[in-house]
Amino acid sequence: MARASAPGKLILFGEHAVVFGEPALATAIDLRTEVQARPDKEWHVNDGSLEDAGHVYVRHAVDLAWGGGPLGLEIRSMIPVGCGLGSSAAVTVATIGALGALGGKEVREEPVARRAFEVEHAVQGRASPIDTSTATHGSAVLVLKEPEEGLLWKVEKDTRRWFLHHCSLPATGFIVGNTRIAAATGPLVAGVRERVERDPRAAAAVREIGEITLEGLKALQRRDLVRAGELMDRNHELLNDLGVGHSSLDKLVAAARPHAYGAKLTGAGGGGSMFALTDEPDKVRAAIEAAGGKAYLVETEPKGLEVSA
Ligand code: MEV
Repeated sequence: MARASAPGKLILFGEHAVVFGEPALATAIDLRTEVQARPDKEWHVNDGSLEDAGHVYVRHAVDLAWGGGPLGLEIRSMIPVGCGLGSSAAVTVATIGALGALGGKEVREEPVARRAFEVEHAVQGRASPIDTSTATHGSAVLVLKEPEEGLLWKVEKDTRRWFLHHCSLPATGFIVGNTRIAAATGPLVAGVRERVERDPRAAAAVREIGEITLEGLKALQRRDLVRAGELMDRNHELLNDLGVGHSSLDKLVAAARPHAYGAKLTGAGGGGSMFALTDEPDKVRAAIEAAGGKAYLVETEPKGLEVSA
């Protein structure tokens, strides 16, 4: 039997723009998914089939990372599914990690992150490596257009290039508000692409999000939460302009802002989650719940993929 776990993530700045090669910043969070794998008479995932629609990421991960006989996979997750908090990336990374350990191989982060990116790309039709890299490496991950200090690895796909960096951020708690509306990432990513191809204002929004990421990172590193919050608010507006907002996200963001430095949607949008940067977590939490959302306090998580055989 082998077991692996990986964390969820919060994209602080830069979602969607990162698919076009712009900078983005994400942090791992202290909600994790664990996968246990053991040889069995036939394939199953928990009490269901590997072919179930809900296990599409796991199935692709198995296809890419396992050449042996049937396995029983047990998945336990603290990460709500389809809510922008990286549940798919975490289950993909943890599955690849568990299969590697079961096969008796040394499990190294970079090859796992590369394979997990291939899985997300295949399932979603288009993706950046930010979610899967954050789930693999833990801590904060910064995607840049060029290599800099802290480079983890780089990857090219079609005409895009991403340089993934380890990044240190001060340990921070965020309040996440889940709209309880699940939205698939693939169609949202495809919608942004279509908009960017036909509307130069959308292409300009993507570039501005890239600039916001770089400034937002500096603001967070010097603990200038006022500036970081302003940039989050602007990033949210630009994501709305790109068509990935939702009225329920705006409602939670508006509820949080009176008690927060800033608030924005996180992940693919279209529902899913928002988060707020605040030093009044109880007030923000109560405001999100009163506006109909489910609120969580999440902390930055230093640990990425963890494997035991
Ligand atoms: C989803 O968590 C983040 C997106 O930027 C897609 C991706 O980067 O693959 C929307």
